[in-house]
Amino acid sequence: MLSLEEQVRSGRLVCPLSRQSLIFKEGELQTVDGRYRYPIVNGVPVLLPPEKQEAYLAERKGKMAEEYTAVKKPSSIKRWFNRWVNRDYRSQPSQEAFGQCIDAQPDDALCVAVGGGPHHVHPKLVNLNIGLFPNVHVVGDAYALPYADDSVDAIHCEAVLEHLEFPNEAAAEMFRALRPGGQLFAATPFMQHFHAYPNHFQNFTLVGHRRLFERAGFDVVSAGVCVGPTYAVGGLVFRYFYTYVSVPGLRQLLAGAAALWALLLRPLDKRLNRSSQAHLLASTTYAHLTKSAACSE
Ligand SMILES: C[S@@+](CC[C@H](N)C(=O)[O-])C[C@H]1O[C@@H](n2cnc3c(N)ncnc32)[C@H](O)[C@@H]1O
Repeated sequence: MLSLEEQVRSGRLVCPLSRQSLIFKEGELQTVDGRYRYPIVNGVPVLLPPEKQEAYLAERKGKMAEEYTAVKKPSSIKRWFNRWVNRDYRSQPSQEAFGQCIDAQPDDALCVAVGGGPHHVHPKLVNLNIGLFPNVHVVGDAYALPYADDSVDAIHCEAVLEHLEFPNEAAAEMFRALRPGGQLFAATPFMQHFHAYPNHFQNFTLVGHRRLFERAGFDVVSAGVCVGPTYAVGGLVFRYFYTYVSVPGLRQLLAGAAALWALLLRPLDKRLNRSSQAHLLASTTYAHLTKSAACSE
């Protein structure tokens, strides 16, 4: 992962308002003329436009911040359970697309996870998030990325676009910051319940997801199902019982039965994800995108 110092020194991390390069001064990041100043909190730069900083500080006190701050390293039993039992059986093409976007980048590449954290899903990723949660390396806004034009080698954006009221603007911003020839891997829910982080505005069909990025100027390398239909249905049935059954004991019984049913059937997704119909009920779809090298001409 490119360090903060390297991002600043190379002129890639910039002021999100003026896009001027930044310098370290008086324990902050500042534009050379001193007009824009950004705090560094516990080693993490907070590169939000001033009006967003207030909203961010309010949200820090909220439910999402509490949940994220409580994230602890799972026990070895939980890790084993998640690895071998509680799997989401991502489709093979989506895993290959992720590998081509992120694994294939050289060590000195700048790879940014927009909306990333509190998990660090790949050591090359710089997690950028609107909130300063554990494992967030840059506090920034998907609508005003603190990166210079054509400066980012690869972007990962997973489970974020449904939380943005203006996803078109975020897609355009990712296009601006990505270098020509750069890669983007996006995975976004289609068939999932309402979940606010910090809000939830929409889900995307496979075609809606593709078109979102094509409208922003991207070329689609591949697109399809990421997490499949059995995971989606199991999650929805669990959520249905958990939300609407209020009789004590019965709620746990029904929701527990749904969770067990989903767990046992989930391996079916290995097969269903290969079907041309998989996207009709998929939990999430992915898109592997690139910014054409012709954009540099
Ligand atoms: C459901 S979480 C997904 C987190 C992570 N990408 C993952 O897959 O685990 C959505 C994340 O988007 C972040 N987010 C929401 N609005 C944002 C914005 N305008 N700019 C940057 N991040 C944002 C939230 O703080 C939250 O951490």
